[in-house]
Amino acid sequence: MITFESVSKTYRDGTTAVADLDLVLPSDQISIVVGPSGCGKTTTLRMINRMIEPTTGTIAWDDRPLKSFRRTTLRRQMGYVIQNGGLFPHRTVLDNICTVPALLGWSRAKSRSRAIDLLKMVGLDRSLAHRFPAQLSGGQQQRVGVARALAADPVLLLMDEPFSAVDPVVRADLQQLVREIQRELGKTIVMITHDIDEAMLMGDRVVIMRVGGRIAQVGTPDEILDRPVDDFVEGFVGKDRGYRALSFAPASGLPVGRVRSVRSAASATSGAPAVVVDAEGRPTGWVDPDHGPAVLPLGATFHPETDSLRAVVDATLSSPLGMAVALQPSGRLAGVVRAEDALAAVRRRRLEVADQHRPEEQAADAEPDDVPVADAEPDTAPAARSDAAGGTRPAEPDATEPRPAEPDAAEPDAAEPDAAGAGAVEPDATPGSTSTAPPADGDDLERQPGRALGPPPADAPEAPAAEPRHAEDGSR
Ligand SMILES: Nc1ncnc2c1ncn2[C@@H]1O[C@H](COP(=O)(O)OP(=O)(O)OP(=O)(O)O)[C@@H](O)[C@H]1O
Ligand SMILES: [Mg+2]
Repeated sequence: MITFESVSKTYRDGTTAVADLDLVLPSDQISIVVGPSGCGKTTTLRMINRMIEPTTGTIAWDDRPLKSFRRTTLRRQMGYVIQNGGLFPHRTVLDNICTVPALLGWSRAKSRSRAIDLLKMVGLDRSLAHRFPAQLSGGQQQRVGVARALAADPVLLLMDEPFSAVDPVVRADLQQLVREIQRELGKTIVMITHDIDEAMLMGDRVVIMRVGGRIAQVGTPDEILDRPVDDFVEGFVGKDRGYRALSFAPASGLPVGRVRSVRSAASATSGAPAVVVDAEGRPTGWVDPDHGPAVLPLGATFHPETDSLRAVVDATLSSPLGMAVALQPSGRLAGVVRAEDALAAVRRRRLEVADQHRPEEQAADAEPDDVPVADAEPDTAPAARSDAAGGTRPAEPDATEPRPAEPDAAEPDAAEPDAAGAGAVEPDATPGSTSTAPPADGDDLERQPGRALGPPPADAPEAPAAEPRHAEDGSR
């Protein structure tokens, strides 16, 4: 758990990036910080690994003040990922991933074997191991960036807009990857984004920040969508928040009805509308004899066991006949959900959310019959009611306790080397460095391009542009 207590950061030129910030970022969860440009997100993140020191206030990790940690110790336990992966352009993929293990003195064989395992974990083919970053796509570079940050098995991952430079499809894959990594490895992740949809999709907890590093609202995604605290948050989460809140209600339990299926439009010249299926039973379109012989578009489909109510509503809205087509896991036709049933489930969900937010006294006082909405509920099958209204996202698996930081009070720089605001630039505040531990002076190839370990291949394109320099310039 990271705790900010009355933390402010004023840069030397007088800009107050963060003012009086009180914030708790729990362990073993994904916390997403989202807010407009310049509101202080990066400053906040970089104070967690002490790339930037607060001007006032205290930040603690599991109740231990960050200032009592040696910086290198801290960063070894905190992986750091930025846009484009921030890879060293003149090192191969493998060497990039091995950066921190090498600094930690791991043997070459052990580092390489770890790097190969990580390549697999982030979904990259081993054949990419010897390429240079410029020979990878943006999404692949970003995966290498994640692998590199994970190399020394850090407890915490700090991610600063890691996916903002990739297209939406690649972005969705990367979002999925990070969620899987969090579940499987039980990491604590603090991630920054501009994108409220990404925040809502990925966050267990979302922190909405306004300019000046002030917190506008902190909560679970559905709390924020359902109860924005003010106009700023409401404006930030967008006009379609009612629709997006449906992402947190499961589709399971909705009544999936039977529907006629045909192999071709010609087989349905009369009677009720039918779903046209291929030889494997997978739906391909609709045919409505009242509308003529043409095959109509299928619209969006959904998987009842895994999709959300939002997917069902989307499927009904995109269906030419107002019926959402449900698929079996194999992709075969499972049946249909009618628009009326989907809307009834939406209504139940809204009522349930309203109940959850009733003040406690009111909830305790109210007899079941006192709840005015209860009588007005449509008569629906009990299974459908409880399930459709039921849940939030699946519980996270048990995660491991964060590793206690090693006591390092005896380490030489544990005693505030920069408390006087000397304005020293941290070794890995340098753009492009995503390592979990600061490279030793002179090891940062971006700062010392002349000291590259090896030349890029003759055909290597220009190295990707580095992130604009964002150097700490000292506390006032
Ligand atoms: N080294 C610096 N010196 C002076 N001001 C700075 C420095 N770094 C950041 N700032 C200012 O502090 C404020 C917060 O910056 P920060 O980088 O934390 O914002 P951000 O929320 O990450 O923005 P973005 O979404 O654009 O990345 C901005 O006004 C910025 O101009
Ligand atoms: Mg930023």
